Amino acid sequence: MVGFAGPYRNGLQWLLHGAEELTLSFTQETPMRNISAALTLVKAHYEKYVYPDFPRLASVRGCDTYALNLEALWARFNGERLDPHEGRILLAGCGSFSPYPTAVANWKTPITALDLSAANLDRARQHTWLRLHFNVDFIGGDLTRATEQFGEQAFHFIDCYGVIHHIPDDLAALRTLHALLKPGAFARIMVYSRCARRSIQAVRRALRLLEIQNVREIRTLCRKARPGSRFRECVDAAPEAAFDSGLADLFLHPYAKTYLLMELLAKLDQANLEPLGFIHPSALPDLDTEIARLRNLEIARTLTTNFILFAGRKEDAPRRWAWKSFKAEQETWISLNPVIKKFLPFLPLIPMKLAPRLGFANPPIDLSGKRLLARFKTPVAKSAIEPGHLKTVEKYLHALFLIETASEPIAWNASIPL
Ligand SMILES: C[S@@+](CC[C@H](N)C(=O)[O-])C[C@H]1O[C@@H](n2cnc3c(N)ncnc32)[C@H](O)[C@@H]1O
Repeated sequence: MVGFAGPYRNGLQWLLHGAEELTLSFTQETPMRNISAALTLVKAHYEKYVYPDFPRLASVRGCDTYALNLEALWARFNGERLDPHEGRILLAGCGSFSPYPTAVANWKTPITALDLSAANLDRARQHTWLRLHFNVDFIGGDLTRATEQFGEQAFHFIDCYGVIHHIPDDLAALRTLHALLKPGAFARIMVYSRCARRSIQAVRRALRLLEIQNVREIRTLCRKARPGSRFRECVDAAPEAAFDSGLADLFLHPYAKTYLLMELLAKLDQANLEPLGFIHPSALPDLDTEIARLRNLEIARTLTTNFILFAGRKEDAPRRWAWKSFKAEQETWISLNPVIKKFLPFLPLIPMKLAPRLGFANPPIDLSGKRLLARFKTPVAKSAIEPGHLKTVEKYLHALFLIETASEPIAWNASIPL
């Protein structure tokens, strides 16, 4: 086995003492040929280990859910106002928690929470109902067959966070996302980066070779591991290792693929999807610059984040171009993100920052920021904003606290770039 060559005769010695990397070929996922057997194993894993395993009364700060609001996201990508009652959201592989914050952010919008695991769905229902949100349907099923359940072009926003890399036929899953998206719709996708997950994947394979299959044994081994060993560092650096299901998700998962950037982009392309922007920590706003930055980090083997991005249907590119050129040339309306509007009165008088959700630290909201934001409770024409406020307004627009929409219907077909 490539990884255990050199001074370590077996995986145990490497786990306990090894501080060096194992080679990349060792850390890659073995392809699973039998897709339905893999699905059964993944389902069984999540029936046993609810993920994430938060206390039933864990709560989120309402204002921190601003970046999940469908109206705000729809405005960003399409420049249109979307009636929240008309919008449809799918949580594809919802896990045990995400329906709750998504419902906080979208209290008027019907949400479908889909998952393979009944245990995760049960827990998610508890979190959501305990907080008195009842606009979520909890549905068991496999994402790759979701068009059979929901039909095509059914959703405006699909959140598929940390799921695709657990599906052996990832291309089928991405094609399903594409088929489920309405025209103009978008998906948020998070997948593991091969570079960022290198050590975790190596530990995972070593534990598998040693036939270590439970969390208790991993914890015992970890206590024995030398401080500074890859294994110890891996556990210490992962917040989810604090809870058993998190540790199991890291090291005992039956299927966890990782991606190089170009591999991910090629898969999206094959599924007729295109990236609209990356939102992992430190992501740059310009797509091409961010792609170049990520490639350089991969070459230097210093990329430390997984990939988080918004993707849209390739055939909607003309709509997005039309909105971009409309925004540059014509009048737009600026209004408050509905989540910010709802929670603005509850923000403290002292300056505060909302949780970063789009890859960068948010501008603080201080007293004057709060007063400025309050002016956008009803839409304001961009041309009517005083020049002295424009810079702050632009910052709040970038952060999605404010949203921008076209002042008149956009002619989609008129502005396809040559
Ligand atoms: C790592 S968890 C992520 C949960 C959630 N998206 C979040 O961000 O907290 C992965 C979830 O995807 C679900 N899943 C995996 N494969 C699936 C599939 N083929 N169809 C539907 N759900 C799936 C699992 O049951 C699990 O709940």
